[in-house]
Amino acid sequence: MDAASSDLLRFITCGSVDDGKSTLIGRLLYETKSLPVDQLASFEADSKRRSTQAGALDFALLLDGLAAEREQAITIDVAYRYFATPRRKFIVADTPGHEQYTRNMVTGASTAEAAVLLIDAQLGLLTQTQRHSCLMSMLGIRRVVIAVNKMDCVAWSREVFETIAAQYRAFARPLGFTALACVPLSALHGDNVAARSAAAGWYEGPTLLEWLEAIDIDTDRTARPFRMPVQWVNRPDSSFRGFAGTIASGVVRRGDTVLSLPSGAESRVARIVTQDGDLDLAIAGQAVTLTLASAIDVSRGDLLAHSVERPVVADQVEATIVWMHEAPMLPGRAYAVRIGTRTVTGTISDLKCRIDVATFGQLAARTLELNDIGICTLSFDQPVAFDPYADNRDTGGMVLIDRLTHETAGAGTLRFALRRSQNLHWHFLDVDKRQRAAQKAQQPRVLWFTGLSGAGKSTIANLVERKLHALGRHTYLLDGDNVRHGLNRDLGFRDADRVENIRRVAEVARLMTDAGLIVLVSFISPFRSERRMARELFPAGEFVEVFVDTALQEAERRDPKGLYAKARRGELRNFTGIDSPYEAPEHPELHIDTATLAAEDAAELIVGYLAGMREVP
Ligand code: ADX
Repeated sequence: MDAASSDLLRFITCGSVDDGKSTLIGRLLYETKSLPVDQLASFEADSKRRSTQAGALDFALLLDGLAAEREQAITIDVAYRYFATPRRKFIVADTPGHEQYTRNMVTGASTAEAAVLLIDAQLGLLTQTQRHSCLMSMLGIRRVVIAVNKMDCVAWSREVFETIAAQYRAFARPLGFTALACVPLSALHGDNVAARSAAAGWYEGPTLLEWLEAIDIDTDRTARPFRMPVQWVNRPDSSFRGFAGTIASGVVRRGDTVLSLPSGAESRVARIVTQDGDLDLAIAGQAVTLTLASAIDVSRGDLLAHSVERPVVADQVEATIVWMHEAPMLPGRAYAVRIGTRTVTGTISDLKCRIDVATFGQLAARTLELNDIGICTLSFDQPVAFDPYADNRDTGGMVLIDRLTHETAGAGTLRFALRRSQNLHWHFLDVDKRQRAAQKAQQPRVLWFTGLSGAGKSTIANLVERKLHALGRHTYLLDGDNVRHGLNRDLGFRDADRVENIRRVAEVARLMTDAGLIVLVSFISPFRSERRMARELFPAGEFVEVFVDTALQEAERRDPKGLYAKARRGELRNFTGIDSPYEAPEHPELHIDTATLAAEDAAELIVGYLAGMREVP
């Protein structure tokens, strides 16, 4: 069985650095006698030797010892600890408190039913506390206890405690917590953790452990509709075809009608196969292989569900996201998005707002920085099946991944499907790209010139267009400076603007190849990610990346528009090569080194390359 039983509570602890989280967890393990005997003995000996707290047990040391295995974990820094009382078993996710560790908190919180949020009585509510509270709310945690720690350092002042408690309750009102308690405690001395404190006679509420033992939890994932993301298709030979995965929610029975989404194909469950033989019925948390009565198309990443209460299928959604990467989120940039077992490409097509974590106000924003939370429209390159996170935490969450570094960039919860895309249909036209190109007796191409300002892109592109024109080719040159006078007049030079600049010009280039033209694009296009996005808009072979490679010193020496000089004087911000990056292409089709090749020769080379290219099938 999994977390479905009500005698098991999964919770997360969060707080800032130094507010005593390790001490609190250590204390809980100690008081519930959940430590192995040998660990306990060495901890007591260690405490005597090293403790900063004369004579007292140093619980932070205990956690440090337990954390040794954690240092080896590379990607996700969450440690799970187990303890039990006669009334309940507990699994606590211990996540580091540093600002940049939002990622770990999200990992720990996504399976937690409750949260213990530490506040240092000496410091009160911090921005960090507010941010963590927002995240907990976003991730569906509805039961929260505020551990007002270090009460011994404020002489167990009832006033201090009540002020913090009142402030927090006022702050958290919009967050939808259904159970909220505040407990004054001292993790170090053990007051009000497991044992009632003699020092706080005025406090009549439960101890922390009493609260954790008593709260109602409804972890009954079996009560929700049946969902199983397909992890892999098991096909040992032609006689067996099974779909393997872990049931995320609900119950499935032999004979049930199930749908495979996003396709919507329907079949019946023929067998429920497990390592221990076939079952008549399987429930949330179990890993099974289903075989179906008819041969419908099901692949890895599909979602199996009952045909009543079906998941939503959409290629555009509204989502709440929390950004977890040092590099800011950029609308228009393509990210890999993992939903269940499916990975698709997604773009934030509209950032609606950033959430002010102190007031929950919606702030206008063009990007999200590390730890920011925002609401956005997300567009996928294909339809995806999911449930709104509020209905199902297992099928309504997603992770965003940087496509170049494969690092986790953000996490989010899907709110609802946007129907806009379903009301738009592709209109097939009688005259198509092939016919338009045939009439011009040419193969449409994109010559994508990238390089620093002053590298010579436009000079070379201009020569190439002249030559092609003289050969009777139908061309168009899209030049960065020129397009910024019209279509992209509204864009500046911050990262987000450049991403949008390239997205638009790539789309325009695509329309132009659809018109049968040979298109020359001459834009700095400094980011690999967007050049890749541009490339992926075209059929293989149609996109030719031309890296016009000039050393920064040389481009700066030429400085045809005097912009480098301005940038050096600080009169121009975000100038490529000076205070904005240029990411050189790794595998361009053509690499023009302007130190060794004159513009005229470069143009000849490019025209020759085009002439020698194979036809795009
Ligand atoms: S891109 O980075 O978004 O691809 P784009 O090619 O459209 O840039 O525009 C670059 C041109 O804008 C440069 O050739 C230069 O003339 C001008 N420019 C003005 N400010 C900047 C800046 N901060 N960084 C780079 N180019 C700038």
